[in-house]
Amino acid sequence: MRLKDKVALVTGSSQGLGLAIARRFALEGARVFLGDIKEEAGRDAAAELTSRGVKAWFVRLDVSDEESWKAALAALIERAERLDVLVNNAGINIRKPIEEMTVEELDRMLAVNVRGPFLGIKHALPLMRQNGGGSIINMGSVCSLIGHKFTPEAYTTVKGAVSQLTRSVAVRYAKDNIRANVLCPSTVETPLVQEVMKDPERRKERVGEVPLGRLADMEDVASAALYLASDEATFINGVTFPVDGGVTAW
Ligand SMILES: NC(=O)c1ccc[n+]([C@@H]2O[C@H](COP(=O)([O-])OP(=O)(O)OC[C@H]3O[C@@H](n4cnc5c(N)ncnc54)[C@H](O)[C@@H]3O)[C@@H](O)[C@H]2O)c1
Repeated sequence: MRLKDKVALVTGSSQGLGLAIARRFALEGARVFLGDIKEEAGRDAAAELTSRGVKAWFVRLDVSDEESWKAALAALIERAERLDVLVNNAGINIRKPIEEMTVEELDRMLAVNVRGPFLGIKHALPLMRQNGGGSIINMGSVCSLIGHKFTPEAYTTVKGAVSQLTRSVAVRYAKDNIRANVLCPSTVETPLVQEVMKDPERRKERVGEVPLGRLADMEDVASAALYLASDEATFINGVTFPVDGGVTAW
């Protein structure tokens, strides 16, 4: 049990990568809170996990809203009394090139993908400090590291910001034994990319860019998150961790 006695909050975990990470954490002994705006799916996911004998709860959380963070973390503390791991996974992608994107769309991208983790960290730091430390895992992308020819500008902008936010927190809060790292997956087949992946040409492009010759699997990302959350990674801090089969090593 690699996360025994730990309490984790995973945002955007009613489906996709967040759910895969939450499931893996719970199976490794953590008490896990699934935070999302999709309430029904989140409650079903938590119930499915609980039915396997692990500890999981759904908590409504809109990461772009500070009051929602306060309420979700208060509910978590009331039940679990501590927070050890925060996975800022919730993210959206409005797939429009810069010349077509409206200001409202850009603001929505920033609100969920940047304001979200920023507020999560703001409110998690004091809780982690109380326990003598913690692990913050932010969900970046290969777009945190490179300009990606298949991905429009707004997504690369927000994922780049996530990696700088992570480095800043890693450097400034290490004194409190709080580590922060960013996971940088290449394309993973989740509901987020379903539309893109329906097109055989675009699927071919995405697979073709990966030296290992396949798309990332949700479990590839969950395994990396598990490592960063666990005590095996107690000296890993401020890292941008590609889970990309070599995409960014070209
Ligand atoms: N799928 C990929 O190819 C891929 C690759 C690299 C990085 N990522 C990143 O991984 C993360 C998860 O992606 P996914 O593919 O699982 O996406 P997804 O669309 O399948 O799931 C995202 C989840 O986030 C939730 N969410 C959206 N807005 C929210 C908000 N304001 N507050 C709380 N929850 C909210 C959604 O309800 C959903 O459950 C995102 O940050 C994404 O950018 C995905």
